[in-house]
Amino acid sequence: MSILKIKHLLGLEGVSAEDITKILETAVSFKQILERPVKKVPTLRGQTVVNLFFENSTRTRISFELAEKRLSADTVNFSASGSSTSKGETLRDTVRNIEAMKIDTVVIRHSSPGSAEYLTKCLDAKIINAGDGSHEHPTQGLLDIFTLREKFGNLKGKKIAIVGDIAYGRVPLSNIYGLQALGAEIMLCGPPTLIPRDIEKIGVKVSYRIEEAIEFADALNVLRIQLERQNSTGLFPTTREYFRFFGITKERLKSKPEIVILHPGPINRGVEIDSEVADGENSVILEQVTNGVAVRMAVLYLLSGGEEVRENQ
Ligand code: CP
Repeated sequence: MSILKIKHLLGLEGVSAEDITKILETAVSFKQILERPVKKVPTLRGQTVVNLFFENSTRTRISFELAEKRLSADTVNFSASGSSTSKGETLRDTVRNIEAMKIDTVVIRHSSPGSAEYLTKCLDAKIINAGDGSHEHPTQGLLDIFTLREKFGNLKGKKIAIVGDIAYGRVPLSNIYGLQALGAEIMLCGPPTLIPRDIEKIGVKVSYRIEEAIEFADALNVLRIQLERQNSTGLFPTTREYFRFFGITKERLKSKPEIVILHPGPINRGVEIDSEVADGENSVILEQVTNGVAVRMAVLYLLSGGEEVRENQ
């Protein structure tokens, strides 16, 4: 029996502050374990986790696999290329066949919004969404929030601006729901064509001027333009033009020397962010990656029924 109210991690919409806080606090303990010479605990020994990646990934895939190995779970990796999906097998048949091999947890990345939720209707396994189209990417949201908590402590009243492709990215919604649950204030910033109409209705501010977002924010979460998911062209003139109006440069940050810069990756240098900022002293981009392993360990552990991390594990 899990101490979390959620049974699966499909998104952060509707997840309580209590559940988010339990995951983040458990991740603090796992981060300490990852700093030891021996970075492995026997917590999930005997459990099998399948990583189903129907879309490309570097960070999320490696991070989940490392998290599973650090917890001593058995892991199996599935890629759509080289599988029988190319012979016409459906997602349902693929996952039911994998479940028949006796697995406990499925981590899924898929281009279709709702694909992770769909699996909860076909399988008894725990399901973790590793990114479903332009819907949500909850473990990215959690690791971003974990990183912000390391910087600021309590996030109540902290101001976070999410900049870039809000309409087609999956990181914005997970950040918005998770940060709102913990009391942060959010501004979205980007070209009007990349910000969904009426998004203010979910309690966020919107600005089409990067200078206003920088002025507002204690931290900027800078997003990539999701060219692969945009179903029409001409949403902005050119990447060069985008950088001119929205690119995060040292010059633009002059008025905010303490601002914290996040980016979920992959970075397109010179499009949404300048290298001087991405690699500069305000950037926590690689800390986000480090924290991702601890956060994913916490999610895997708590969803599988874990209660507390004991000091001497
Ligand atoms: N942040 C993120 O999801 O990166 P990947 O696509 O490399 O997993």
